[in-house]
Amino acid sequence: MDLSGSDALPRRPLGSTDLLVTPLCIGCASLGSMPETFGYVVPEAQALVTLRMAFRSPINFLDTAASYGDGESERRLGLVLKEFRGVPSGYVLSTKADRNLRTGDFCGDQVRRSVERSLRLLGLDRLQLVFLHDPEHTTFEEAMAPGGPVAVLQRFKEEGVIEHLGVAGGPIDLMIRYVETGAFEAVITHNRLTLLNRTAEPLVDFATPRGVAVLNAAPYGGGILARGPDAFARYAYQNAPPDLLARARGAAEVCRRYDVPLAAAALQFSVRDARIASTIVGVSSPERIAETLALARFPIPEPMWAELDQFATWEGDPERPRQPGSSPG
Ligand SMILES: NC(=O)c1ccc[n+]([C@@H]2O[C@H](COP(=O)([O-])OP(=O)(O)OC[C@H]3O[C@@H](n4cnc5c(N)ncnc54)[C@H](OP(=O)(O)O)[C@@H]3O)[C@@H](O)[C@H]2O)c1
Repeated sequence: MDLSGSDALPRRPLGSTDLLVTPLCIGCASLGSMPETFGYVVPEAQALVTLRMAFRSPINFLDTAASYGDGESERRLGLVLKEFRGVPSGYVLSTKADRNLRTGDFCGDQVRRSVERSLRLLGLDRLQLVFLHDPEHTTFEEAMAPGGPVAVLQRFKEEGVIEHLGVAGGPIDLMIRYVETGAFEAVITHNRLTLLNRTAEPLVDFATPRGVAVLNAAPYGGGILARGPDAFARYAYQNAPPDLLARARGAAEVCRRYDVPLAAAALQFSVRDARIASTIVGVSSPERIAETLALARFPIPEPMWAELDQFATWEGDPERPRQPGSSPG
């Protein structure tokens, strides 16, 4: 999608739901302050000013999770929502139901407690969109069992507490399995549809014809494609292996030649893909909002895209080898 035309952002249906979202979504993981994942602390005042800026921007979509800062992202969002007297009209707020981060418990009761805590921290009595978050931390069978996490989320939906359900996580085969159940209206993939990694392609091809909205999170691979491979040599929350670093440097060199910021190419790679309902970008300071909009509108010569394709891989899990607890999820 070309966003260069006007200050307003277009809104389109989120899959087959009645929600209308902009092609950009503000990801609130780092706003919960997760120094073990992102490498820096985000003070509360900085998070609040960033969130206020997000709500006043042309972007109408924010994404958080119960696990981000173990409730801190939702608590901070709740403070700003109180100032705005709830989710501003026309905005979409998604959160995610999580396992217990201390014990790993991912049973149905835990997911009920997670949703109840989200409602409390956000100060809301209804949630527009809730994702089953990182179900790779349990088995498919346990997640789908009677009384299990998915059944609990469906119950909340029947009661009107949750309007729409999604699934968010890493392993592509597993995400496809969840989409196949028909229980979810949206799916989040992360770090797997970027300039450097295209392993989410089969998921996108599977979900979109079924009317399941695909949201693409972490278009910068967690930072390397925004800050550059020499400033930030990590991808998907772990140290980047040498082959990935070499590919990132190659992509950066092509961008330099075309005089295009690497971050603009990384962001528009996702935003221009008509199959992607919205691209979830992580930001932790207010100036990032205007920067993100400018990057999404930066003019990019068409031939650059084909040149960038050579630096992508279509195989391999970017989170392997995984460092326990390191992913924001
Ligand atoms: N399992 C899941 O569902 C899942 C997994 C991963 C992510 N997500 C969602 O996707 C969101 C985004 O993921 P992410 O934050 O991990 O990765 P990301 O969006 O690929 O990258 C975020 C990083 O890029 C930096 N950045 C952003 N804009 C920049 C700019 N204009 N110039 C320079 N640096 C810039 C940020 O820096 P600053 O912090 O300095 O702004 C941050 O370090 C999360 O917040 C979350 O909502 C979901």
